[in-house]
Amino acid sequence: MPRQGLALAALVATLGAAMPLSAEPVAKPIVIAHRGASGERPEHTLASYERAIALGADFVEPDLVMTRDGVLVARHENEISGTTDVAARPEFAHRKTTKSIDGEAVTGWFTEDFTLAELKTLRARERLPKLRPQNTVYDGQFEIPTLQEIIDLVRANETAAGRRIGLYPETKHPGYFQGIGLAMERPLVAMLEKNGYSHAGDPVFIQSFEAENLKELRGLTKLRLIQLMGAEPHFAAMTTPEGLKSVATYADGVGPAKALIVPVSKLGKREAPTRFVADAHAAGLKVHAWTFRVENYFLPADMRKGLNPRGRGDMAAEIRLFVELGVDGVFSDNPGEALAALE
Ligand code: G3P
Ligand code: CA
Repeated sequence: MPRQGLALAALVATLGAAMPLSAEPVAKPIVIAHRGASGERPEHTLASYERAIALGADFVEPDLVMTRDGVLVARHENEISGTTDVAARPEFAHRKTTKSIDGEAVTGWFTEDFTLAELKTLRARERLPKLRPQNTVYDGQFEIPTLQEIIDLVRANETAAGRRIGLYPETKHPGYFQGIGLAMERPLVAMLEKNGYSHAGDPVFIQSFEAENLKELRGLTKLRLIQLMGAEPHFAAMTTPEGLKSVATYADGVGPAKALIVPVSKLGKREAPTRFVADAHAAGLKVHAWTFRVENYFLPADMRKGLNPRGRGDMAAEIRLFVELGVDGVFSDNPGEALAALE
């Protein structure tokens, strides 16, 4: 294991002279609570969002899917056996099925086969019990929240905290949901409008991996839009300077996987940063990178502490490196630590 706790200056020095630091000064990077404070509570529960707000997160991030009766609820996937107790519920055993979701065969239970009332009988579970066993004490306690309930939570806490708390909703599988007659775009915009969010200056970013979804949203709302992109080959065209200029015709920013900015080898070795941030800024796009997590499992080798995958490494050093490289925001499962890293 390489030595730990390198100061930022030393980290930068080790990257070499070729590192393309952003020319644009960073104002104040925002901290987006990824699935709430999902490092501390089961993800996408009101408890997770509430914890994130208490820790001071600038934005809370609900991933959104649709119910059979057309209600937007917070889940990372429409298949819910990984984050709820549905598999242990005999009354829903017959709903288990296999579907093709975005070209992938997925077996389990799907939100679009449940009414909101049925989903409300389920209880959330920790997604990563081996990495986050401390969170399993909350298994069975919390419901699947609707978007409206999340907005209500944010609004109530804004009043109590005396500050705006942003919403950063992500449409999950929007093309798939369109295909089954449960399009998300208009219900999402309508719900946000109903709650007072309709202008570019409102504290909302809508994000999606699917460009067609964002282009449709561009025609429906002035709220800011973020094009997500991963490090997989099918996103490559989007990450070039030309691709980013094209994204800027319909989006206000990009949400890249960390590896698009600082590639990491399969053995965990950090490689030289790319030009992604500079190219995105040149296209006029904000850059909000994902996902920053404290566990060694998610960190490059030289930022881990010890050998235990669930041990807490130096996420703060990773965040500081990305801020030095010019990102405008970070998605983190650990918003409290992320905010501390930025101070
Ligand atoms: O939305 C940013 C990031 O959350 C995208 O990845 O899979 O965690 O939704 P995912
Ligand atoms: Ca997300």
